[in-house]
Amino acid sequence: MRDKFRGKDYLGFKDFTKEEIEHLLSIAQDLKRKWTMREPHEYLKGKSYAMIFEKKSTRTRNSFHAGAAALGAQSFYLRPDEMQLSRGEPIKDTARILDRYFDGLYIRTFGQEIVEEFAKYMKNPVINALTSLEHPCQGLADLLTIREKKGEFKGLKICYAGDIYNVCHSLMLGAAMFGMDMYIATPKGYGAEPSIVEMARKHAALSGSKIVFTDDFDKALKDADIVYGNTWHSMGENEEQKEQRIKDFMPYQINSEAMSKARKDAIFMHCLPGYRGEDMTDEVIEGPQSVVWDEGENRMHAVKAVLVATSL
Ligand code: CP
Ligand code: NVA
Repeated sequence: MRDKFRGKDYLGFKDFTKEEIEHLLSIAQDLKRKWTMREPHEYLKGKSYAMIFEKKSTRTRNSFHAGAAALGAQSFYLRPDEMQLSRGEPIKDTARILDRYFDGLYIRTFGQEIVEEFAKYMKNPVINALTSLEHPCQGLADLLTIREKKGEFKGLKICYAGDIYNVCHSLMLGAAMFGMDMYIATPKGYGAEPSIVEMARKHAALSGSKIVFTDDFDKALKDADIVYGNTWHSMGENEEQKEQRIKDFMPYQINSEAMSKARKDAIFMHCLPGYRGEDMTDEVIEGPQSVVWDEGENRMHAVKAVLVATSL
């Protein structure tokens, strides 16, 4: 398995098998144990990574800085507005130059085609730090968190309520691979990227799970083991529709009443940032079922696993 990852890009769950994602999860678990025990694990000493973020970030950007440092590597944040990229230098030229200086690139941007183009022109690994299509580092941390909290994946039910973009797409693929049912509660007129749904349904057929889109929030919540929230307005994607979206999604707010319709031992997850009073309420995020801080910590263990697997 190690040879399959060395030098490979990590651009989305769409490019990986269940066994490959399982391999990353086991590395993440091991790295988390080492980090918790304060055992040195500087496997990437001497390596250096470039980071380009065209959208804001707290978790993704800083978990990479902290994770790379713990692995003995250095990470350099390159402000896109200070690079020639912002004056029209082509991605393919930028990519080939960065590839000569750094051991890899971690990039958050808009379209998936942008990360794919960087990957095409770089020999070193390119890691997707969020595009409109996928958020695979979040997805890996989510799977890690679910396994820690629930023991195993098979047979679990996820109720997802929030914008159907990146985070939802990666979680959908991960859920389907590992045999979890995923119910996506959404107002009429909002849908997912068809190619991701098609791929997720193929995984689900193999694992014996299902992907269900419904405007019936109660049906999605019934017997859910995991209630997963996300913002209703994604960064730079649909913020101009914010007012309309808040109106449309309000019936899908994850509040105490919604949580009471899931299983008693259901956990509340959220990629964050969340907006109290919109996609969830203060009592839910601060309540006993919330695991969002552990989930946020797991972002660091997950991205370290990706770094180790693709760089070593
Ligand atoms: N969940 C997530 O990606 O958070 P940031 O936008 O803060 O990185
Ligand atoms: N869907 C959200 C996720 C943020 C981590 C966004 O793209 O803004």
